[in-house]
Amino acid sequence: QLTEHQTPQAPLGVIGGSGLYALLDDVTEVSVDTPYGPPSDSLFLGEVAGRRVAFLPRHGRGHTLAPHRINYRANLWALRSLGVRQVLAPCAVGGLRPEYGPGTLLVPDQFVDRTSDRPQTYYDGVPLPGGEVPGVVHVSMADPYCPAGRRAALAAARDTAWEPVDGGTLVVIEGPRFSTRAESRWFTASGWSVVGMTGHPEAVLARELALCYTSLALVTDLDAGVESGAGVTHTEVLEVFARNVDRLRTVLFKALEQLPVTRDCPCGHALDGLTTGFAGLPGD
Ligand code: ADE
Repeated sequence: QLTEHQTPQAPLGVIGGSGLYALLDDVTEVSVDTPYGPPSDSLFLGEVAGRRVAFLPRHGRGHTLAPHRINYRANLWALRSLGVRQVLAPCAVGGLRPEYGPGTLLVPDQFVDRTSDRPQTYYDGVPLPGGEVPGVVHVSMADPYCPAGRRAALAAARDTAWEPVDGGTLVVIEGPRFSTRAESRWFTASGWSVVGMTGHPEAVLARELALCYTSLALVTDLDAGVESGAGVTHTEVLEVFARNVDRLRTVLFKALEQLPVTRDCPCGHALDGLTTGFAGLPGD
């Protein structure tokens, strides 16, 4: 058991999605508990280009957690408690336009929440096990993603000759089922770009902890309303992800390298002037 002072720290974090269960070779495994319970798995700390990075497999190493069963609050809390301030969050998504076929990398600038039963705040006035009572806080979500993180992700993709889609709306469904054709056509008609199951409440909770958060959406299939076949399967999602995981890892490494050492984006100020009720946030 490591003491607080021995626990390794990392300012950068990656939450790996379906098909990305490990990122770094030479890692220290750290198990973290939080007031919200345990995160999806241990955190794995290592280095990329001389910078400390903490990796967390979102669904657990063996993909044991369905999207709606993930303890998103514990995941973000655990990352922050190890010092993480900037998070890159790859995820598998379905394309909602024919031109966003499998293998497309889209860096969204908006999301739409179609989930239904996921705790999405730390600030609900419910006392924590230690007795602290969080205040009621309303953070801004107008621009949900970190502008510096998005720039780094886009530049990293271009560096590897993987032309990314710059911006678009990620609609997040509750899952774990995929969408009907009618739902999918409705998403497309609404002007949304890709559909996934994990982008919410992850982005919200990151903002509530004043973290930088950037989503990298890898299209693994055309969603049911766009394609005319039998519809997407989980096997197809994992297969396509596996085919793209090496170049995704390369993009993540380059993006981590390009993230600013000193944050000058608005993300770190998300709680300025608000009363959180916490004596301090984890990792302060
Ligand atoms: N993840 C990967 N493909 C998806 C799809 N079509 N719908 C929702 N989540 C997905």
